Amino acid sequence: MILMQIRPRRLRQDSGLRSLVRETRVMPEDLIYPLFIKAGEGIRDEIGSLPGCYHLSPDEMLLQEAEKIVEAGLKGVILFGLPADKDEVGSRAKADDGPVQKACRLLKREYPELYLITDVCLCAYTSHGHCGLVDNGEILNDKTLPHLAEMAVSHAESGADMVAPSDMMDGRVAAIREELDKNGYKDIPIMSYAAKYNSAFYGPFREAQGSSPTDGDRSSHQMDYANSREAMREVLLDEDEGADILMVKPALAYLDIIKDVREKTDLPVAAYNVSGEYSLVHAGSEAGLVNRWELQNEILTAIKRAGADLIITYAALEFANRFSEEY
Ligand code: PBG
Ligand code: ZN
Repeated sequence: MILMQIRPRRLRQDSGLRSLVRETRVMPEDLIYPLFIKAGEGIRDEIGSLPGCYHLSPDEMLLQEAEKIVEAGLKGVILFGLPADKDEVGSRAKADDGPVQKACRLLKREYPELYLITDVCLCAYTSHGHCGLVDNGEILNDKTLPHLAEMAVSHAESGADMVAPSDMMDGRVAAIREELDKNGYKDIPIMSYAAKYNSAFYGPFREAQGSSPTDGDRSSHQMDYANSREAMREVLLDEDEGADILMVKPALAYLDIIKDVREKTDLPVAAYNVSGEYSLVHAGSEAGLVNRWELQNEILTAIKRAGADLIITYAALEFANRFSEEY
């Protein structure tokens, strides 16, 4: 017999009460906003594949955006670079006057309170668009590691507060940790893209950062999306190698992985609400199919409910602005 004294709906009758019993809340301080720094001057171009996001040059254009970000109440950004030129080994990735390095210096000087995370990977800097060095079509794991480590050190030298390797080479967290420590950056944390899947959700990003491989794909280093046990192996390895924060990417189709990682480790868990997840919401709302804002909120809340402590999202700035208007 159904006990009609028990009525879960009692707690749903009133918005004040719903708010009191709400289990998960996304706050602006949970969010990290990605910025695309393009070599050059006076650039502020909206990115076609990522509506509401801009290519910014490391000058006044970037500073104007930073002002909005800080005013909105966001605490952190993650920087991606678009260099002026590319070569076989991605030399510009560690150049002192590279776009990300310049951006870090500028932001540190003008907005010291803004927390700076940098993406560490070669794919936007190599002529072939692969995340590592390539020989005869093969992506070379071990030979790539020193390049990543030098890139991380160069970011730290420029003022980055945290580095985030996204290349998925084996052993890169240890290699980066060692090189950072050797250069006096023992307090710079590493947020590892620990369980990063080979995903079609990255499409809009690759257009934005100009980092598509010219041939082949990323299936020899990024994970097969059919696998979850393998993700646990990856995250535990990265923890052993000295990662400070473990990231799962993408987020929306990988909530089970976020939950598993949350349960398997005590490190903070980050989730990357990637470009395809964001831009599909935009496209769906343009097509009149969904309410963009409600859908974006639902997605962010679901990612947090699954166990993410921090979320990287292109919606961060709008979220923070609306948040401050509503509260
Ligand atoms: C580069 C990198 C990618 C993303 C972040 N860093 C793309 C890729 O691996 O091809 C994806 C971010 C997004 O889609 O929003 N290693
Ligand atoms: Zn890459």
